[in-house]
Amino acid sequence: MRISMLMRERQTGYEAVISELEDARKRDYAFSGGSILGSMCTQPHPVAVEAYNRFMETNLGDPLLFPGARSLEEKTLGMICGMLNAPAGAGGQFVSGGTESNIMAMALASRLTGRDEIIIPASAHFSFEKAASLMRLKAVSAPTTDGFLADVSAVRELANERTACIVGVAGTTELGMIDPIAGLAKVAGDNGCMMHVDAAFGGFVIPFMKQMGYEMPDFDFSVPGVTSVSIDPHKMGCSTIPAGVIAVGEGGNLCSIGVDTPYVSTKTQPGLLSTRPGAAAAATYAVMRHLGNAGYRQIVEGCLSNTRYLCERLSEEGFSLPCEPQMNVVGIRFKKPRVVKDALAERKFFVAPLDRVGCIRVVCMPHVKREHLDSFIPVLKTVARGLGEI
Ligand SMILES: Cc1ncc(COP(=O)(O)O)c(C=O)c1O
Repeated sequence: MRISMLMRERQTGYEAVISELEDARKRDYAFSGGSILGSMCTQPHPVAVEAYNRFMETNLGDPLLFPGARSLEEKTLGMICGMLNAPAGAGGQFVSGGTESNIMAMALASRLTGRDEIIIPASAHFSFEKAASLMRLKAVSAPTTDGFLADVSAVRELANERTACIVGVAGTTELGMIDPIAGLAKVAGDNGCMMHVDAAFGGFVIPFMKQMGYEMPDFDFSVPGVTSVSIDPHKMGCSTIPAGVIAVGEGGNLCSIGVDTPYVSTKTQPGLLSTRPGAAAAATYAVMRHLGNAGYRQIVEGCLSNTRYLCERLSEEGFSLPCEPQMNVVGIRFKKPRVVKDALAERKFFVAPLDRVGCIRVVCMPHVKREHLDSFIPVLKTVARGLGEI
């Protein structure tokens, strides 16, 4: 790290500081600009931004001081648990995102079962590796099928009396695929362990696709045996960063991973953070109330329509897709995904490289417009030709 002399004894004028901020911000890419094609985050809805600003100083870790923010957390958790078909008596907490909720779920599973292995599909997000590393759990990787889904029979072979949790993903980070949650939950039940669903991405997509009549598998608490679910409002929920939620079903009380909390107004707290942003809960409350089911359906359908358009155009141009997208995530096959990603970045298009499956990933998030895709495709073609990929 470079040691900086910017912290001076004398004050720097307000205007001068703002101007420095503006300079730094100009160097950032904006979601609206059409360059960001590989992210699972998006431009927050204006009502979320308004709520965030109003609740900026609130701390969910000290609800005596901020009962208003706390009530919004509670109401929002209620809406999210409803969306996830959680049973009465389910609970949860606002966290910073999918990583934190996955770590909490693994901590909960290890605490409740007293076991120290977790089975994670090879397609799962690296946050499970973080959880395993932090808590000295053994992460057992389960293979995926040719269709990029967790292989239930392989998971059955791997599960045993040391397994604390089986993980399934509803909207994989790589290709947006939905693991066979019912099959995995059955294996979990047979082995007396917990079943966690990482719906960080898909949690704000699948319920609305179902409402629109798309054939989608069950992925949430409606599946017998599912004990916890991660869902991220700061992804397809169109809330502000950081906003994640861990939802826990009946019998899995987050308090079991809580510690006593002297000095603040709670008695115990689960979770990694003590001070938690009330602004995240307020922003999510605001956008969920404002959009309602109809608003999210419209957003999701827009994303899916762009996904279909992108797939068609890519096929017309001779690109190969690894699978038909189940959601708004498109993989495009390349021999050297990282080289393609770098060449695209030089041309100001940012996609994610997926080394494991030999693809780059485009996520048709709400900020991705058709004209962005129209600008991207010819560049992708030039890059792919230049690299001898097509
Ligand atoms: C399925 C899934 N889980 C967890 C995460 C981690 O979420 P976060 O970056 O908000 O911690 C991601 C991130 O893309 C994800 O796709």
